[in-house]
Amino acid sequence: MTRRSGPIATVLHPIRVLQLTDPHLLADTAGSLRGTVTHASLSRVVAHYRRSDWRADLVVLTGDVVQDYSARAYEHCRALLEPLELPVYCLPGNHDSRELMRAALSSEPFFYCEPVDIGSWRLVGIDSCAEGRHDGEIADRELDRMEACIREARERHVLVLLHHPPVQMHSEWLDRYGLVNAPQFLDRIDRHSNVRGIVFGHVHQCWDSERGPVRIIGSPSTCAQFAPRRSEFTIDDKPPAYRSIELQADGGIATEVIWVNDVH
Ligand SMILES: [Fe+2]
Repeated sequence: MTRRSGPIATVLHPIRVLQLTDPHLLADTAGSLRGTVTHASLSRVVAHYRRSDWRADLVVLTGDVVQDYSARAYEHCRALLEPLELPVYCLPGNHDSRELMRAALSSEPFFYCEPVDIGSWRLVGIDSCAEGRHDGEIADRELDRMEACIREARERHVLVLLHHPPVQMHSEWLDRYGLVNAPQFLDRIDRHSNVRGIVFGHVHQCWDSERGPVRIIGSPSTCAQFAPRRSEFTIDDKPPAYRSIELQADGGIATEVIWVNDVH
């Protein structure tokens, strides 16, 4: 067996990923959206994670960080997540301002649309947003960047992260705000045999399906949820949530949604 000289980073599998999505923070910390005070809601989610026995290696924040396009709301995000003392890999959603988000969330511990290698995996976060629209459309150059990131990591398992769902949610109103070039995105994914999973936000509900060898996972928000499979917009009575994602050495994915019911 060939041994590499120098320090060898020991990474234990599974790689544990904490997904937080769609916090919709506002400049006013007392501000609410659809009946939920979004700052308090994210704060409760973070507190729940910190009290739990499960420990993440990194955080992925899959868009709609803010609701009001304010720099102040991004500052609140930094302040709420920095105590986790974990790297936070983030990407924008349709309610984000790319400029403000990049300005606020590009310095450590935050990374904006940057790939990361950990253990036998590479995580690739991409921007699925179209300027001035709530549906998603991945620009050709972003698809090219994604493919280059996947190709470079040929020997690794890859998890792709984006805001918009690449599948129909079977909710007429929500599917109007889906990913318009999902077929092109999935066609690019299909060119690479090392992609194991795709993780998204935006839909404020659970999703877990398989497309060939690729697991497709969507997650509820850290604030209010949308009722699944409704023709019209309907708020669900489910509580705030986060998702644990465990990436196994052999490319397997184990995941769980944790609902935050407790009031503290
Ligand atoms: Fe969204």
